[in-house]
Amino acid sequence: MTETTPEPTSKKLFIKTYGCQMNVYDSDRMADALAPHGYEPVQAAEDADLVVLNTCHIREKASEKVFSEIGRLREMRDERRLTGGDLMIGVAGCVAQAEGDEIVRRAPAVNLVFGPQSYHRLPELLARAHNGARVVDTDFPEEDKFEHLPAAKKEVTLKRGLTAFLTVQEGCDKFCSFCVVPYTRGSETSRPLEQVLREAETLAEGGVRELTLLGQNVNAYHGLDSRGRTVGLGELCYRLSLIPGIARIRYTTSHPLDMTDELIEMHRDLDALMPYLHLPIQSGSDAILRSMNRRHTVAEYMAVIERIKTARPDMAMSGDFIVGFPGETDADFEATMQVVREVGYASAYTFKYSIRPGTPGATMENQVPEAKKAERLTRINEQINTQMHAFHRSVVGRTLPVLIEKPGRHPGQIGGRSPYLQAVHMDGPTRLIGQIIPVEIVEARNNSLIGKIVTVAEPNPASVIESQAIAAHI
Ligand code: 5AD
Ligand code: SF4
Repeated sequence: MTETTPEPTSKKLFIKTYGCQMNVYDSDRMADALAPHGYEPVQAAEDADLVVLNTCHIREKASEKVFSEIGRLREMRDERRLTGGDLMIGVAGCVAQAEGDEIVRRAPAVNLVFGPQSYHRLPELLARAHNGARVVDTDFPEEDKFEHLPAAKKEVTLKRGLTAFLTVQEGCDKFCSFCVVPYTRGSETSRPLEQVLREAETLAEGGVRELTLLGQNVNAYHGLDSRGRTVGLGELCYRLSLIPGIARIRYTTSHPLDMTDELIEMHRDLDALMPYLHLPIQSGSDAILRSMNRRHTVAEYMAVIERIKTARPDMAMSGDFIVGFPGETDADFEATMQVVREVGYASAYTFKYSIRPGTPGATMENQVPEAKKAERLTRINEQINTQMHAFHRSVVGRTLPVLIEKPGRHPGQIGGRSPYLQAVHMDGPTRLIGQIIPVEIVEARNNSLIGKIVTVAEPNPASVIESQAIAAHI
């Protein structure tokens, strides 16, 4: 008789993700870290033995949601206990980091609280919680959590599709006066080059064709290579573009001061870098920018955009704006509207200023009344929507490379994304899924484009030569 090792008992895990793309990436890594311990992902809290809320602290509304969700889960747990069942509740992410003690105090139902730097310790924390302890881990450890976290796996990736997020940098040293990120994610760190390349190779082997590199300050990336040399984001993008299968690279979010010449030149030289850049300015008023501690003026931001557009004339821009920052006058807001028009953003995220305890903005005088913020938000949104639709219409008649991602809603149709992240629908066979093909855009709808396949793509010898030229350059 042969002895068999017992399988770990299967437990069900549901992770609810709030906030940014980095949280989406982190949730996947948490699931990967727990898989060897018998945790299998499920799609709803109702089916789970362990629910983790991966939280966001960036604005007040985002963090308020956590406490109401904990309340709902506690009720579910209490009901289960009546019939001998149970539920473990974990709170992860930036609310956990910033308000760990508050959660412990206000929400006794929560079994464990852990910040973004503790995810690699999750199995151990969970074991302690299973033994009845209430576990809180919000330290910023010295060790590199990525060394201990499983890299994105290819089996998982296949399920996820042709595009993937990849965290390359975390944290921020900029300390904008409205922002909690430097407190919740800690100071800037970059993952070593080889570690990022290895993870990208695994993703590519699993079928991923488009990578979005993530970091709170991603263009401040300065990872070490195996010889101890510091590598910037431009070179990282180039090295990633050499991985077979990786055809498109994006990165988010960037700070204007970190748009180096090296990175901007990469936008000129590297076809794989998509001509769509998220570069927040937050406000179009120099006085407000100063008070926000952004460390640049409107003119300096405009100069960066000009350098980018010179390097890559087909570049489209997106950004973030905060309206109603303390002291923002009507004239300051009009200056923001002027920047929105002048840059001609193809899209943008807009927010009402939200007081974050512990940040300098929270104690500033001249807080703007809610009604004023709402009024300004409506106006800026109208302008951005108008520009977004104009941008969609502007690509009608152009032939764009489209990454075919999935079957369309109707038989015989397929859908994909343009370089500008626009959804494109067209007639075509599903065997094209995973390919990048030239598509003539024939119509712009509200939220998508209609296209017509031109020809099936052949490898472009010109881009091969171009890659070699860049290799020589590095
Ligand atoms: N209030 C409103 N918006 C904020 N953001 C960051 N902090 C705040 C805040 N306190 C916005 C910024 C940032 C984006 C991620 O969220 O525009 O770029
Ligand atoms: Fe926050 Fe971005 Fe400013 Fe850093 S650069 S403090 S993440 S808004």
